[in-house]
Amino acid sequence: MSTTQRIINELTSVYPEGLTLDQFIQRTALKKDVVELALSELINQKYPISINGDKFGLTFPLLSPAAIAPLSKTQFIGKRIRLFPSLESTNNYAKENLASLENGEVILAHEQTSGKGRLGRSWSSPIGKSISMSIVLKPAIQPENISLLTQLSAAALVDALKEMNDVKIKWPNDLIMNRKKMAGILIETEFSGGTLKGIIIGIGINTNLESSDIPDGLQSIATSIKEQTKKVVNPNTLLARFFISFEHYYKPFVSTHLTEPFLSVCRDHSILIGNNYWVINDTEKRKAYINDISPSGGLVVTYHDTNQTAVITSTHLSIRGDAEYI
Ligand code: BTN
Repeated sequence: MSTTQRIINELTSVYPEGLTLDQFIQRTALKKDVVELALSELINQKYPISINGDKFGLTFPLLSPAAIAPLSKTQFIGKRIRLFPSLESTNNYAKENLASLENGEVILAHEQTSGKGRLGRSWSSPIGKSISMSIVLKPAIQPENISLLTQLSAAALVDALKEMNDVKIKWPNDLIMNRKKMAGILIETEFSGGTLKGIIIGIGINTNLESSDIPDGLQSIATSIKEQTKKVVNPNTLLARFFISFEHYYKPFVSTHLTEPFLSVCRDHSILIGNNYWVINDTEKRKAYINDISPSGGLVVTYHDTNQTAVITSTHLSIRGDAEYI
């Protein structure tokens, strides 16, 4: 573990208190100049560290596998975690290192420099203020069932955030608070000669972003949990809950194709069902009434122009309100 991550772990374990230089030295057995250098590096890199008198403290808790482990009693999801200060994209890292990653292993990064969203969009992950995570799965499932993992992940996120009563899912992969997006899911697969080698579930959660951290032009459609609840989010508690819930849905899904437990959460929290939206793909834009989520995880819609009902399974499209994101 790097010195800076050790310092982050110490600061996370005493949060919301801080530590003096002497306390750091006692707790880590590191030399004073090493602690000072690590702290100044973290401050220069814009980690959320504040100085109060002679104490250094976190403005909000940072990702720390040491803090997640005692809270997350799973068998394999998140049992092993690789945390990086900065990656281009946790999904890219997982793809490039798939062979050495175990089923259920999780990649985390304090920041991504080139985070990827759906439909070729970029995903902003400023340092320490959001969760950038990729879960590696190596199951024996049929390729047509892979998209159900988006619904499974969305349901597990809703469970992890259940203390916040206003969390909704915008099919297929957006998590919403107060009609704005605060988390997204991007699933990627790796095949070799027709054989599925691994599935990468990329999830970005806007935890402690301020509105000024949200890129220009996205402020009307994107938000963070902290912005909505006015409370600091502990990413480690959130992830521990998420891993437990994800595994709870995932094990029976893989063994017996049990989907209803997570699909019912998606239906109950759907922001789309019962309303009319535009269904937009590369070539057309059609208004539709959104009926349901099908047993295969598709969106059941009735188009206004033909009055025909169809199940949308392609995720290469957007669902939009009249003027807005939702
Ligand atoms: C979307 O809503 O468009 C999906 C966003 C997914 C972002 C996450 S952050 C962790 C992982 N790594 C990436 O590059 N993207 C996903």
